[in-house]
Amino acid sequence: MKRILKIVGILVAIIAFIITAGATYISVRGIPTYEAHPPDLKVEGDSAMIAEGKRMATLVCHNCHMSKNGLLEGKYMEDMPPEFGKAWSANITQDDKYGTGRYTDGELAYLLRTGVKRDGSYAPPWMVKFPHLSDYDLNSIIAYLRSEQPELKPVHKQQQACEPTFFAKFLCYVAFKPLPFPEHPVPSPDPTDKVTFGKYIATAKLDCFGCHSPSFEVQNIMEPEKTPGYFSGGNAMPNLSGEIIYTRNLTPDKKTGIGNYTEEQFIKAMKFGMRDNKPSLRYPMPPYAIVTDEEASAVWAYLQTIPAIEHDVDALYAKK
Ligand code: HEC
Ligand code: HEC
Repeated sequence: MKRILKIVGILVAIIAFIITAGATYISVRGIPTYEAHPPDLKVEGDSAMIAEGKRMATLVCHNCHMSKNGLLEGKYMEDMPPEFGKAWSANITQDDKYGTGRYTDGELAYLLRTGVKRDGSYAPPWMVKFPHLSDYDLNSIIAYLRSEQPELKPVHKQQQACEPTFFAKFLCYVAFKPLPFPEHPVPSPDPTDKVTFGKYIATAKLDCFGCHSPSFEVQNIMEPEKTPGYFSGGNAMPNLSGEIIYTRNLTPDKKTGIGNYTEEQFIKAMKFGMRDNKPSLRYPMPPYAIVTDEEASAVWAYLQTIPAIEHDVDALYAKK
């Protein structure tokens, strides 16, 4: 008996040692670095691509990277869930030293797809990744970043480095890994195939699914539909005063989702945050006012085809 106790004691000590050593390693080493393999790419953007890149940047990038001065110089991200630590978005103005001026087109493409920066460091989970974006849309963003726009005027300022918590670093070892760079060209979806086009907007281009699935920790970026609770909402997001707002269930469930919405009601909510007889949608739901009616209608058509999930988001408020 004594001998067994002794063996158990030694085993516990070994496990405790491994855990402590692992934890020390993760906290000291921080977010992991990788080898970057940027493609040989030179984007020749025309005015249509620049306009499309600017539209997408306005819908996605500006929310995080634009400072109060209207410049893409980065800022403190006030609405980061505290369990991840503190974050500042990067300076993505055209500055040669601190902005995207130091990136090649290939390095930008590599970062936006995989999450690995030019120096090999991994852009933490709070910087979005675009593995499924079409080459045309990706190149449009790059063409925009290189174009003459007031918000991209070089700002010679190093943005503060993020301060991830142990939990965030730990997740970067076990859950958030660089995504594979596509081996083949990624074609643009056919806009007349409404459901496929809508899926592309909702999962690859505007990232509705990330916020609208129950948590970022379990989201499956490579195969969005495999995300547990896909589009059923309940992701807890702090607003700018730290109050928790839960994302809504966008599955066609009649009781808890958007099963009783008309297409028109859905589009009004998506584009302008407006709902009939209910308060307007709050931050951090971004108003998608500049999406086209075809895009909004395609997202609606796609959401009609996903499995209905009963998930009562209002009950989450009641539980608190
Ligand atoms: C949800 C917020 C968020 C969105 C949306 C977002 N970013 Fe970022 N981005 C960040 C944060 C935070 C960082 C800094 C990460 C770090 O610590 O390295 C970052 C880093 C970067 C970097 C790395 C710069 C460097 O210094 O190495 C580039 C380039 C970039 N973002 C471009 C973009 C573009 C282009 C878009 C839109 C297509 C975009 N980001 C959308 C939050 C965001
Ligand atoms: C940054 C996170 C975020 C992103 C990205 C996002 N949403 Fe939302 N969305 C929210 C939050 C939070 C709410 C709930 C706001 C509230 O309760 O006031 C919401 C609510 C909604 C609603 C209202 C549903 C209802 O029950 O009335 C619709 C519709 C919606 N979002 C559609 C979309 C679509 C479509 C996209 C992608 C184009 C999208 N959202 C992207 C956070 C997000």
